[in-house]
Amino acid sequence: MKKPIISVVGSINMDLIVTTQRRPAVGETIIGSEFYTKPGGKGANQAVAAARLGAEVHMIGRVGNDIFGNELLSLLNKENIFLNNVEPVTHLPTGVASITLSEGDNNIIIVPGANSLVTPEYLHQHIETILKSDVIITQLEIPIETVEELSNICNQYNKTLVLNPAPAQRLSTNVISNCTYITPNEIELNQLKEQHPHMLVENEEKLIVTEGKKGSYYFHQGEVQRVKGFTVNAVDTTGAGDCFNGALAYSLGMKKDIAEASRFANAAAALSVQNLGAQEGMPTLKEVEQFLAQYSV
Ligand code: RIB
Repeated sequence: MKKPIISVVGSINMDLIVTTQRRPAVGETIIGSEFYTKPGGKGANQAVAAARLGAEVHMIGRVGNDIFGNELLSLLNKENIFLNNVEPVTHLPTGVASITLSEGDNNIIIVPGANSLVTPEYLHQHIETILKSDVIITQLEIPIETVEELSNICNQYNKTLVLNPAPAQRLSTNVISNCTYITPNEIELNQLKEQHPHMLVENEEKLIVTEGKKGSYYFHQGEVQRVKGFTVNAVDTTGAGDCFNGALAYSLGMKKDIAEASRFANAAAALSVQNLGAQEGMPTLKEVEQFLAQYSV
């Protein structure tokens, strides 16, 4: 079968990672263990996940004209991701994420920088790429008006749109009704439920909810359908949700149903946490297939 074409409209960040035995209290300074810079950004991470699995991936995003921007583009290029729709900007720096890894989990603060210039107008300048895609993925590290407009375009042209509502923000009822799938984690789901109690019930068949190592679930005819996760030795869970989304989009692009796509995405996400950094552990198709084969007997 032909490779799915996936467009990722989203963020590109440099992750500034500190590891520490414990988190500081407010006003406290502590001594950490290690510091790394690693490529990240929910959009770029999802693009790398889908590209490693074999999709033809087009990134629609922005970086600053600076050292981080140049390095991130060069790494995305090595992943065979098409970058014709990533225009550097001169008056804002590349987005960064300050990440603290401690006690087996992470805290993240992002400063969007150039990602804030992925505007609705910018989207329209790159609409041809969107229209030739089988699946489009987006997240909420770019302006919400852009997500709104992308959802209008996808709805108008009948395109499959996967919205990963992270980091959580208020979504309009228009966005919810325009998306094909919405992929919150449990925290994001609770926030969405508070904002749109009725809307979410009416649209529950769009939801694919991630629950970390427990797996994921979706709804079919009013019933929760659980898809079990996989237990592995986790080194760094940063980007596991992004891997799930990239793998889900790949699998949907390969015309798999939600059950199969969710199982595949759970497996990819489990494999992704075995390396430090959001993108380093993203698995190849062969790795996911071999991993799943161990569980199929
Ligand atoms: O989902 C993980 C990502 O969130 C990190 O790579 C960081 O850049 C933030 O965008």
